[in-house]
Amino acid sequence: MHQLISVIGSKGGTGKTSISHMLCHGLGLFGRQSISILTDAEREPLSRAGRHYITLDGRTPEQLEKILEKLSTMPNWIGVIDGGGNRPDMDRHLYELGGLVLLPFRDSQEDMRTVVRDLDRYPNALGVPSQWPTNSWQQMAAERTLDEVMQAYRPRLLEPVYSVSASKLLLQAEVPSHLPSILNNVSRGLARQVLDRLGLPYDPDNA
Ligand SMILES: Nc1ncnc2c1ncn2[C@@H]1O[C@H](COP(=O)(O)OP(=O)(O)OP(=O)(O)O)[C@@H](O)[C@H]1O
Ligand SMILES: [Mg+2]
Repeated sequence: MHQLISVIGSKGGTGKTSISHMLCHGLGLFGRQSISILTDAEREPLSRAGRHYITLDGRTPEQLEKILEKLSTMPNWIGVIDGGGNRPDMDRHLYELGGLVLLPFRDSQEDMRTVVRDLDRYPNALGVPSQWPTNSWQQMAAERTLDEVMQAYRPRLLEPVYSVSASKLLLQAEVPSHLPSILNNVSRGLARQVLDRLGLPYDPDNA
């Protein structure tokens, strides 16, 4: 069976595109085949060169439908849909399509208040702390804000995806042949959690 993951959310700039690429990259490091599917009309498609995964352009409904049709004939492949901000109708559609739905949010009251509304709207979706601070004081402050704003939602949160400046390398038109190990580690951490949630096995020695 193929699997489909949607990365969505009402707010712009929360890390949807970065998380969808880091996830595909991490899946590739575990030897899993995946496709990053662009649906955001504001973004240009990225080349496949140098990636551990395929990139496809699903920016029109027709393109997206074709990709999903093809994916349904590709057993064992994982599709990861990169949503766009501020598209409630499209988000609803992608929520219904996704076997797993991820809602990234950053360490701010505003992001957290928005993701709480999305978590209520999409009861099977999971929140992903994104661009999370790596400095321990900032981490403690972020945890306090989480407790204040979304304590009740903690069981629906994945472990944080930390801020890694090298994540932007995956959003370049072409990815450099060597990527920093910190980016590989954060990507693997995300992929491992997603594979666990999907009930798919992974070989830690493969990573
Ligand atoms: N884990 C991370 N570490 C460092 N920078 C990050 C991380 N995630 C995202 N960013 C940066 O934050 C900015 C917004 O991220 P991104 O484009 O992934 O968000 P988005 O939700 O896809 O935005 P949009 O709503 O415009 O589609 C970018 O500059 C990106 O490089
Ligand atoms: Mg984006």
